[in-house]
Amino acid sequence: MIRIGIIGAGYWGPNLIRCFQESPGCDVVYVCDRDPRKLDHICARFPQVIGTTEDADVLRRDRVDAVVIATPTKTHYRLAKRALEAGLHTFVEKPLATRSDECADLIDCAEANGCVLFVGHVFLYSAAVAKLKELVTSGELGDIYYISSTRLNLGPVRHDVNALWDLAPHDTSIILELMGRSPLSVSCSGLAYLDQRIHDVCNMTMQFPDNRIGIVHVSWLDPRKRRVMTVVGSNKMAVYDDIEPIEKIRVYDTGIHAATEASSFGEFLYSYRYGDIYSPRIKESEPLKAEIHGFIDSVVTGAAPKTDGWNGLRVVEVIEAADKSLRDNGGHIPIPSTVSLRRASRSAANASGQDALIAAMGG
Ligand SMILES: NC(=O)c1ccc[n+]([C@@H]2O[C@H](COP(=O)([O-])OP(=O)(O)OC[C@H]3O[C@@H](n4cnc5c(N)ncnc54)[C@H](O)[C@@H]3O)[C@@H](O)[C@H]2O)c1
Repeated sequence: MIRIGIIGAGYWGPNLIRCFQESPGCDVVYVCDRDPRKLDHICARFPQVIGTTEDADVLRRDRVDAVVIATPTKTHYRLAKRALEAGLHTFVEKPLATRSDECADLIDCAEANGCVLFVGHVFLYSAAVAKLKELVTSGELGDIYYISSTRLNLGPVRHDVNALWDLAPHDTSIILELMGRSPLSVSCSGLAYLDQRIHDVCNMTMQFPDNRIGIVHVSWLDPRKRRVMTVVGSNKMAVYDDIEPIEKIRVYDTGIHAATEASSFGEFLYSYRYGDIYSPRIKESEPLKAEIHGFIDSVVTGAAPKTDGWNGLRVVEVIEAADKSLRDNGGHIPIPSTVSLRRASRSAANASGQDALIAAMGG
Protein backbone atom coordinates (compact mmCIF):
# COMPACT_ATOMS: atom_id res chain seq x y z
CA MET A 1 0.00 0.00 0.00
CA ILE A 2 1.52 3.32 -1.10
CA ARG A 3 1.25 5.96 1.60
CA ILE A 4 0.31 9.33 0.12
CA GLY A 5 0.75 12.83 1.52
CA ILE A 6 -1.12 15.67 -0.20
CA ILE A 7 0.07 19.27 0.17
CA GLY A 8 -2.52 21.91 -0.73
CA ALA A 9 -6.21 21.47 0.02
CA GLY A 10 -7.66 24.52 -1.69
CA TYR A 11 -9.87 24.32 -4.77
CA TRP A 12 -8.21 21.37 -6.54
CA GLY A 13 -6.65 19.44 -3.61
CA PRO A 14 -9.95 17.89 -2.36
CA ASN A 15 -10.53 16.33 -5.83
CA LEU A 16 -7.10 14.73 -5.62
CA ILE A 17 -7.71 13.54 -2.04
CA ARG A 18 -11.03 11.93 -3.06
CA CYS A 19 -9.62 10.24 -6.17
CA PHE A 20 -6.47 8.97 -4.42
CA GLN A 21 -8.63 7.71 -1.56
CA GLU A 22 -10.89 5.84 -4.02
CA SER A 23 -7.95 4.37 -5.97
CA PRO A 24 -6.71 0.88 -5.16
CA GLY A 25 -3.12 0.40 -4.00
CA CYS A 26 -2.79 3.68 -2.10
CA ASP A 27 -3.86 5.34 1.09
CA VAL A 28 -3.97 9.10 1.78
CA VAL A 29 -2.29 9.33 5.17
CA TYR A 30 -1.44 13.05 5.49
CA VAL A 31 -2.97 16.24 4.14
CA CYS A 32 -1.17 19.53 4.64
CA ASP A 33 -2.50 23.04 4.15
CA ARG A 34 -1.27 26.26 5.68
CA ASP A 35 -4.85 27.32 6.23
CA PRO A 36 -6.32 25.49 9.29
CA ARG A 37 -9.90 26.16 8.08
CA LYS A 38 -9.21 24.13 4.93
CA LEU A 39 -7.79 21.33 7.08
CA ASP A 40 -10.85 21.29 9.35
CA HIS A 41 -13.02 20.87 6.30
CA ILE A 42 -10.85 18.04 4.91
CA CYS A 43 -10.57 16.21 8.25
CA ALA A 44 -14.36 16.33 8.65
CA ARG A 45 -14.84 14.90 5.16
CA PHE A 46 -11.99 12.34 5.36
CA PRO A 47 -11.74 11.45 9.09
CA GLN A 48 -8.99 8.83 8.60
CA VAL A 49 -6.57 11.47 7.26
CA ILE A 50 -4.06 13.28 9.51
CA GLY A 51 -4.12 17.03 8.91
CA THR A 52 -1.17 19.36 9.43
CA THR A 53 -0.27 22.94 8.61
CA GLU A 54 3.47 22.12 8.36
CA ASP A 55 4.74 20.67 5.08
CA ALA A 56 7.80 19.31 6.97
CA ASP A 57 5.40 16.88 8.72
CA VAL A 58 4.60 15.31 5.34
CA LEU A 59 7.97 15.45 3.57
CA ARG A 60 9.29 12.47 5.52
CA ARG A 61 10.03 9.07 4.11
CA ASP A 62 9.15 7.32 7.36
CA ARG A 63 5.62 8.73 7.03
CA VAL A 64 4.77 8.65 3.33
CA ASP A 65 6.05 7.05 0.11
CA ALA A 66 4.74 9.69 -2.28
CA VAL A 67 3.74 13.33 -2.16
CA VAL A 68 1.15 15.19 -4.22
CA ILE A 69 1.69 18.95 -4.58
CA ALA A 70 -1.47 20.97 -5.23
CA THR A 71 -0.34 24.35 -3.97
CA PRO A 72 -0.12 27.61 -5.97
CA THR A 73 2.15 27.37 -9.03
CA LYS A 74 4.95 29.53 -7.65
CA THR A 75 5.49 27.09 -4.75
CA HIS A 76 5.78 23.94 -6.94
CA TYR A 77 9.53 23.95 -7.52
CA ARG A 78 10.55 24.51 -3.90
CA LEU A 79 8.18 21.88 -2.51
CA ALA A 80 8.90 19.33 -5.25
CA LYS A 81 12.64 19.72 -4.78
CA ARG A 82 12.35 19.08 -1.03
CA ALA A 83 10.10 16.07 -1.66
CA LEU A 84 12.49 14.52 -4.18
CA GLU A 85 15.51 15.21 -1.95
CA ALA A 86 13.65 13.36 0.80
CA GLY A 87 13.43 10.36 -1.58
CA LEU A 88 9.67 10.67 -2.15
CA HIS A 89 7.88 9.95 -5.42
CA THR A 90 6.40 13.29 -6.42
CA PHE A 91 3.23 14.25 -8.25
CA VAL A 92 3.16 17.98 -9.07
CA GLU A 93 0.07 19.74 -10.32
CA LYS A 94 0.45 21.60 -13.61
CA PRO A 95 2.54 23.51 -14.46
CA LEU A 96 5.59 21.65 -13.14
CA ALA A 97 7.36 24.94 -12.29
CA THR A 98 7.57 28.49 -13.60
CA ARG A 99 11.00 28.18 -15.27
CA SER A 100 12.43 25.52 -17.54
CA ASP A 101 15.74 25.41 -15.63
CA GLU A 102 13.76 24.57 -12.49
CA CYS A 103 12.04 21.72 -14.36
CA ALA A 104 15.40 20.41 -15.56
CA ASP A 105 16.70 20.55 -11.99
CA LEU A 106 13.68 18.55 -10.75
CA ILE A 107 14.25 15.94 -13.48
CA ASP A 108 17.90 15.56 -12.36
CA CYS A 109 16.89 15.46 -8.71
CA ALA A 110 14.27 12.74 -9.36
CA GLU A 111 16.80 10.67 -11.26
CA ALA A 112 19.51 11.10 -8.61
CA ASN A 113 17.11 9.96 -5.88
CA GLY A 114 15.44 7.15 -7.85
CA CYS A 115 12.02 8.80 -7.61
CA VAL A 116 9.10 9.15 -10.00
CA LEU A 117 8.46 12.76 -11.05
CA PHE A 118 4.93 13.10 -12.38
CA VAL A 119 3.12 16.19 -13.72
CA GLY A 120 -0.65 16.64 -13.47
CA HIS A 121 -1.43 17.18 -17.14
CA VAL A 122 -4.77 15.56 -16.52
CA PHE A 123 -6.13 15.91 -20.06
CA LEU A 124 -3.48 13.52 -21.37
CA TYR A 125 -5.37 10.85 -19.41
CA SER A 126 -8.77 11.69 -20.87
CA ALA A 127 -10.46 9.28 -23.24
CA ALA A 128 -11.54 12.19 -25.46
CA VAL A 129 -7.97 13.39 -25.99
CA ALA A 130 -6.88 9.78 -26.66
CA LYS A 131 -9.62 9.61 -29.33
CA LEU A 132 -8.46 12.91 -30.87
CA LYS A 133 -4.91 11.56 -30.97
CA GLU A 134 -6.20 8.42 -32.68
CA LEU A 135 -8.00 10.56 -35.29
CA VAL A 136 -4.77 12.47 -35.95
CA THR A 137 -2.34 9.53 -36.04
CA SER A 138 -4.62 7.25 -38.07
CA GLY A 139 -4.58 9.89 -40.82
CA GLU A 140 -8.38 10.20 -40.81
CA LEU A 141 -8.17 13.99 -40.55
CA GLY A 142 -5.42 14.16 -43.19
CA ASP A 143 -2.52 16.61 -42.81
CA ILE A 144 -3.07 18.77 -39.75
CA TYR A 145 -3.23 22.46 -40.72
CA TYR A 146 -3.89 23.94 -37.32
CA ILE A 147 -5.32 23.29 -33.87
CA SER A 148 -7.11 26.01 -31.97
CA SER A 149 -8.24 25.90 -28.37
CA THR A 150 -10.44 28.09 -26.20
CA ARG A 151 -10.49 27.87 -22.39
CA LEU A 152 -12.68 30.54 -20.83
CA ASN A 153 -14.54 31.05 -17.59
CA LEU A 154 -15.48 33.67 -15.02
CA GLY A 155 -12.64 33.00 -12.51
CA PRO A 156 -11.09 31.64 -10.49
CA VAL A 157 -8.70 34.61 -10.57
CA ARG A 158 -5.13 33.84 -9.44
CA HIS A 159 -2.76 36.16 -7.64
CA ASP A 160 0.53 34.33 -8.16
CA VAL A 161 0.37 33.70 -11.93
CA ASN A 162 -1.47 35.11 -14.95
CA ALA A 163 -4.19 33.38 -16.98
CA LEU A 164 -1.54 32.04 -19.37
CA TRP A 165 0.33 30.10 -16.66
CA ASP A 166 -2.91 29.08 -14.98
CA LEU A 167 -4.95 27.84 -17.95
CA ALA A 168 -2.77 27.38 -21.04
CA PRO A 169 -0.70 24.42 -19.71
CA HIS A 170 -3.79 22.25 -20.32
CA ASP A 171 -4.21 23.30 -23.98
CA THR A 172 -0.45 23.27 -24.56
CA SER A 173 -0.08 19.74 -23.23
CA ILE A 174 -2.90 18.53 -25.50
CA ILE A 175 -1.63 20.37 -28.59
CA LEU A 176 1.95 19.08 -28.10
CA GLU A 177 0.52 15.57 -27.74
CA LEU A 178 -1.53 15.91 -30.94
CA MET A 179 1.25 17.58 -32.94
CA GLY A 180 3.76 15.03 -31.61
CA ARG A 181 6.49 17.66 -31.30
CA SER A 182 7.42 20.97 -29.74
CA PRO A 183 6.84 24.27 -31.57
CA LEU A 184 9.70 26.23 -33.12
CA SER A 185 8.55 29.52 -31.67
CA VAL A 186 5.66 31.14 -29.87
CA SER A 187 4.03 34.56 -29.74
CA CYS A 188 1.48 35.82 -27.25
CA SER A 189 -0.55 38.92 -26.57
CA GLY A 190 -2.95 39.73 -23.78
CA LEU A 191 -4.32 42.30 -21.40
CA ALA A 192 -4.46 42.83 -17.65
CA TYR A 193 -7.71 44.43 -16.53
CA LEU A 194 -8.26 43.45 -12.89
CA ASP A 195 -4.68 43.88 -11.71
CA GLN A 196 -2.21 45.69 -13.95
CA ARG A 197 0.54 43.15 -13.21
CA ILE A 198 -1.45 40.01 -14.03
CA HIS A 199 -2.86 39.24 -17.48
CA ASP A 200 -6.49 38.09 -17.41
CA VAL A 201 -6.82 37.25 -21.09
CA CYS A 202 -4.13 35.86 -23.41
CA ASN A 203 -3.87 34.70 -27.01
CA MET A 204 -0.94 32.45 -27.78
CA THR A 205 0.16 31.14 -31.17
CA MET A 206 2.67 28.30 -31.48
CA GLN A 207 4.52 27.90 -34.79
CA PHE A 208 5.25 24.25 -35.54
CA PRO A 209 7.42 22.80 -38.32
CA ASP A 210 5.74 22.21 -41.70
CA ASN A 211 3.66 25.37 -41.51
CA ARG A 212 1.36 24.14 -38.75
CA ILE A 213 0.12 26.31 -35.94
CA GLY A 214 -1.49 25.88 -32.55
CA ILE A 215 -3.65 28.72 -31.21
CA VAL A 216 -4.70 29.04 -27.57
CA HIS A 217 -7.14 31.61 -26.20
CA VAL A 218 -7.50 31.69 -22.41
CA SER A 219 -9.34 34.01 -20.06
CA TRP A 220 -10.74 34.00 -16.54
CA LEU A 221 -12.77 37.10 -17.37
CA ASP A 222 -15.45 35.61 -19.57
CA PRO A 223 -19.16 35.13 -18.87
CA ARG A 224 -19.41 31.52 -20.08
CA LYS A 225 -17.38 28.41 -19.41
CA ARG A 226 -15.93 27.20 -22.70
CA ARG A 227 -13.51 24.33 -23.33
CA VAL A 228 -13.40 23.80 -27.07
CA MET A 229 -10.59 22.53 -29.28
CA THR A 230 -10.77 22.35 -33.08
CA VAL A 231 -8.41 20.27 -35.17
CA VAL A 232 -8.43 21.27 -38.82
CA GLY A 233 -7.05 18.70 -41.21
CA SER A 234 -6.83 18.48 -44.99
CA ASN A 235 -9.42 15.64 -45.07
CA LYS A 236 -11.67 16.22 -42.09
CA MET A 237 -12.06 18.45 -39.08
CA ALA A 238 -12.73 17.52 -35.47
CA VAL A 239 -14.24 19.58 -32.68
CA TYR A 240 -13.70 18.51 -29.06
CA ASP A 241 -15.98 20.15 -26.53
CA ASP A 242 -15.03 19.02 -23.05
CA ILE A 243 -18.23 20.41 -21.54
CA GLU A 244 -20.49 18.26 -23.74
CA PRO A 245 -21.66 15.35 -21.58
CA ILE A 246 -21.95 12.73 -24.34
CA GLU A 247 -20.85 13.88 -27.78
CA LYS A 248 -17.53 15.34 -26.70
CA ILE A 249 -16.00 14.95 -30.17
CA ARG A 250 -17.63 15.60 -33.52
CA VAL A 251 -15.86 14.74 -36.74
CA TYR A 252 -16.84 16.81 -39.76
CA ASP A 253 -16.25 15.32 -43.17
CA THR A 254 -15.91 18.83 -44.55
CA GLY A 255 -13.21 20.70 -46.37
CA ILE A 256 -12.27 23.16 -49.03
CA HIS A 257 -10.14 22.20 -51.98
CA ALA A 258 -8.52 24.56 -54.43
CA ALA A 259 -9.47 23.58 -57.99
CA THR A 260 -6.46 22.71 -60.10
CA GLU A 261 -7.51 24.99 -62.95
CA ALA A 262 -9.14 28.39 -62.83
CA SER A 263 -11.59 29.23 -65.63
CA SER A 264 -10.04 32.64 -66.25
CA PHE A 265 -6.97 34.59 -65.17
CA GLY A 266 -7.21 35.84 -61.61
CA GLU A 267 -10.17 33.66 -60.77
CA PHE A 268 -9.68 31.13 -58.02
CA LEU A 269 -12.11 28.29 -57.72
CA TYR A 270 -12.67 26.33 -54.57
CA SER A 271 -14.80 23.29 -54.12
CA TYR A 272 -16.56 23.02 -50.79
CA ARG A 273 -17.34 19.63 -49.36
CA TYR A 274 -20.11 19.28 -46.78
CA GLY A 275 -20.16 15.63 -45.79
CA ASP A 276 -21.36 13.67 -42.79
CA ILE A 277 -20.84 14.63 -39.19
CA TYR A 278 -20.37 11.86 -36.66
CA SER A 279 -19.56 11.56 -33.01
CA PRO A 280 -17.18 8.70 -32.17
CA ARG A 281 -17.98 6.58 -29.14
CA ILE A 282 -15.84 7.54 -26.18
CA LYS A 283 -15.74 5.21 -23.22
CA GLU A 284 -16.62 7.25 -20.14
CA SER A 285 -13.97 7.45 -17.47
CA GLU A 286 -12.79 10.04 -14.95
CA PRO A 287 -9.50 11.49 -16.30
CA LEU A 288 -8.30 12.35 -12.78
CA LYS A 289 -8.66 8.71 -11.70
CA ALA A 290 -6.85 7.53 -14.85
CA GLU A 291 -4.10 10.05 -14.10
CA ILE A 292 -3.77 8.77 -10.53
CA HIS A 293 -3.61 5.16 -11.79
CA GLY A 294 -0.79 6.27 -14.10
CA PHE A 295 1.10 7.71 -11.14
CA ILE A 296 0.56 4.67 -8.89
CA ASP A 297 1.56 2.36 -11.73
CA SER A 298 4.84 4.24 -12.22
CA VAL A 299 5.58 4.17 -8.49
CA VAL A 300 4.94 0.41 -8.37
CA THR A 301 6.65 -0.61 -11.64
CA GLY A 302 9.29 2.12 -11.96
CA ALA A 303 8.15 2.74 -15.56
CA ALA A 304 8.33 6.35 -16.77
CA PRO A 305 4.87 7.94 -16.71
CA LYS A 306 3.34 9.51 -19.81
CA THR A 307 3.46 12.89 -18.03
CA ASP A 308 6.98 12.67 -16.67
CA GLY A 309 9.32 15.56 -15.90
CA TRP A 310 10.31 15.88 -19.57
CA ASN A 311 6.67 16.25 -20.54
CA GLY A 312 6.31 18.92 -17.85
CA LEU A 313 9.45 20.69 -19.09
CA ARG A 314 8.18 20.78 -22.69
CA VAL A 315 5.00 22.54 -21.59
CA VAL A 316 6.86 24.98 -19.33
CA GLU A 317 9.29 25.85 -22.17
CA VAL A 318 6.33 26.95 -24.29
CA ILE A 319 4.54 28.91 -21.56
CA GLU A 320 7.79 30.53 -20.43
CA ALA A 321 8.50 31.72 -24.00
CA ALA A 322 4.87 32.86 -24.41
CA ASP A 323 5.08 34.83 -21.17
CA LYS A 324 8.25 36.50 -22.48
CA SER A 325 6.41 37.35 -25.70
CA LEU A 326 3.50 38.73 -23.66
CA ARG A 327 5.89 41.20 -22.04
CA ASP A 328 7.61 41.87 -25.39
CA ASN A 329 4.49 43.14 -27.23
CA GLY A 330 3.75 39.81 -28.87
CA GLY A 331 7.14 39.22 -30.51
CA HIS A 332 8.09 35.72 -31.74
CA ILE A 333 10.17 33.92 -29.15
CA PRO A 334 12.08 30.80 -30.24
CA ILE A 335 11.62 27.65 -28.17
CA PRO A 336 15.08 26.66 -26.97
CA SER A 337 14.72 22.85 -27.41
CA THR A 338 16.14 22.27 -23.94
CA VAL A 339 14.47 18.87 -23.90
CA SER A 340 16.18 17.50 -27.00
CA LEU A 341 19.52 19.11 -26.12
CA ARG A 342 19.47 17.79 -22.58
CA ARG A 343 18.33 14.35 -23.70
CA ALA A 344 21.07 14.23 -26.35
CA SER A 345 23.76 15.28 -23.87
CA ARG A 346 22.46 12.73 -21.38
CA SER A 347 22.59 9.87 -23.92
CA ALA A 348 26.09 11.00 -24.96
CA ALA A 349 27.13 10.92 -21.29
CA ASN A 350 25.56 7.46 -20.88
CA ALA A 351 27.29 6.24 -24.06
CA SER A 352 30.70 7.47 -22.87
CA GLY A 353 29.98 5.89 -19.48
CA GLN A 354 29.27 2.59 -21.26
CA ASP A 355 32.47 2.96 -23.32
CA ALA A 356 34.42 3.47 -20.09
CA LEU A 357 32.72 0.39 -18.61
CA ILE A 358 33.52 -1.72 -21.67
CA ALA A 359 37.14 -0.48 -21.60
CA ALA A 360 37.36 -1.27 -17.86
CA MET A 361 36.07 -4.80 -18.62
CA GLY A 362 38.79 -5.17 -21.22
CA GLY A 363 36.30 -5.02 -24.10
N1 LIG B 1 -5.51 19.69 -13.14
C1 LIG B 1 -6.46 20.60 -13.07
O1 LIG B 1 -7.45 20.57 -13.78
C2 LIG B 1 -6.32 21.72 -12.08
C3 LIG B 1 -7.43 22.49 -11.74
C4 LIG B 1 -7.24 23.50 -10.81
C5 LIG B 1 -6.00 23.75 -10.27
N2 LIG B 1 -4.95 22.98 -10.65
C6 LIG B 1 -3.61 23.24 -10.09
O2 LIG B 1 -3.61 22.88 -8.72
C7 LIG B 1 -2.77 23.76 -7.98
C8 LIG B 1 -3.58 24.38 -6.86
O3 LIG B 1 -4.63 25.13 -7.42
P1 LIG B 1 -5.91 25.51 -6.54
O4 LIG B 1 -6.91 26.04 -7.50
O5 LIG B 1 -6.31 24.39 -5.66
O6 LIG B 1 -5.31 26.70 -5.66
P2 LIG B 1 -5.88 27.25 -4.28
O7 LIG B 1 -5.23 28.57 -4.08
O8 LIG B 1 -7.37 27.14 -4.24
O9 LIG B 1 -5.32 26.21 -3.19
C9 LIG B 1 -3.96 26.13 -2.86
C10 LIG B 1 -3.86 25.71 -1.39
O10 LIG B 1 -2.48 25.53 -1.08
C11 LIG B 1 -2.26 26.01 0.26
N3 LIG B 1 -0.82 26.30 0.41
C12 LIG B 1 -0.08 27.24 -0.22
N4 LIG B 1 1.23 27.09 0.08
C13 LIG B 1 1.32 26.04 0.93
C14 LIG B 1 2.39 25.39 1.57
N5 LIG B 1 3.67 25.78 1.44
N6 LIG B 1 2.13 24.32 2.35
C15 LIG B 1 0.84 23.90 2.49
N7 LIG B 1 -0.21 24.48 1.91
C16 LIG B 1 0.01 25.52 1.13
C17 LIG B 1 -3.15 27.23 0.37
O11 LIG B 1 -3.47 27.51 1.73
C18 LIG B 1 -4.40 26.78 -0.42
O12 LIG B 1 -5.36 26.18 0.41
C19 LIG B 1 -2.22 24.77 -8.99
O13 LIG B 1 -0.98 24.33 -9.41
C20 LIG B 1 -3.19 24.70 -10.15
O14 LIG B 1 -2.57 25.00 -11.38
C21 LIG B 1 -5.09 21.97 -11.51
